[in-house]
Amino acid sequence: MTTSHTNVGEAKVPGKLAITELSEMKRQGTRIAMVTAYDAAGARLAEAAGIDVVLVGDSAAMVVLGHDSTVPVTMEEMLFMTRAVASAVKRPLVVGDMPFGSYQVSDREAVRNAVRFVKEGRADTVKLEGAGRMLPRVKAIVESGIPVMGHLGLTPQSATALGGYKAQGRTAASARQMLADALALQEAGCYSLVLEAVPTPVAARITEALEIPTIGIGAGPQVDGQVLVYHDLLGLTEGHTARFVKRYADLATVIREALAAFAADVRSGAYPEERHTYGMPADEQAAFEAAIAEEKT
Ligand code: KIV
Repeated sequence: MTTSHTNVGEAKVPGKLAITELSEMKRQGTRIAMVTAYDAAGARLAEAAGIDVVLVGDSAAMVVLGHDSTVPVTMEEMLFMTRAVASAVKRPLVVGDMPFGSYQVSDREAVRNAVRFVKEGRADTVKLEGAGRMLPRVKAIVESGIPVMGHLGLTPQSATALGGYKAQGRTAASARQMLADALALQEAGCYSLVLEAVPTPVAARITEALEIPTIGIGAGPQVDGQVLVYHDLLGLTEGHTARFVKRYADLATVIREALAAFAADVRSGAYPEERHTYGMPADEQAAFEAAIAEEKT
């Protein structure tokens, strides 16, 4: 249901996917398609392809900004990208990923930065990683009127503490803890939960136990939706990718070949051709040449 009301969970903009519709999709068994995007061009293509949720992920730190982890990306950088994405789409829900350091310090800082995502970045909701000490942050942001998506399993902002980029919840004890954390995040007010690099049976159990939809990335098929990083699914990330990545295109090859063809055309003079150029009226050109000739004498 899309409405023009402004309650949490309902769409503020006509045509925008409402959070309540995501819960309805879970109930109906309609899987949710989510992808990351970092600029207007990518976001527009995602909407045209029928994507439901666009996440301006802090994965931007790695795939856009070239860092070796998600940690260094700043609020200003995230807001810049979020604004570009939000300005380009109508229906998909736009989720701003709160970067490391923007919500860990205090509830007050977390609310202040979540508000910036909505007010300056024009995001519809925010996402943050973890449970435990982060539960009061989730509650505080939700109470301020901003919907929150949670993120459990492999939480890249704490990859060092987790012992690297590894699947999580692979022991009975850690799987039980993850289920408890998922329920606590739902209780704290999250409207949805990302499960990253989690064993299939654990993600399935969590999905079954929750009323809110789960979105998996490396969490198997028994979740309510799937998300992949834009650059990974389009084949823009070269070299090693995680086990769960499926490449739907090899855009790196397409782009490299196109750029090489351009460089070769520039060097040979094959580009530009007549049809890529602008002319001017013959009398204006003659007057221009005459004026230059006169200046020289
Ligand atoms: O930053 C990101 O892209 C993410 C997804 C992997 C869920 O958090």
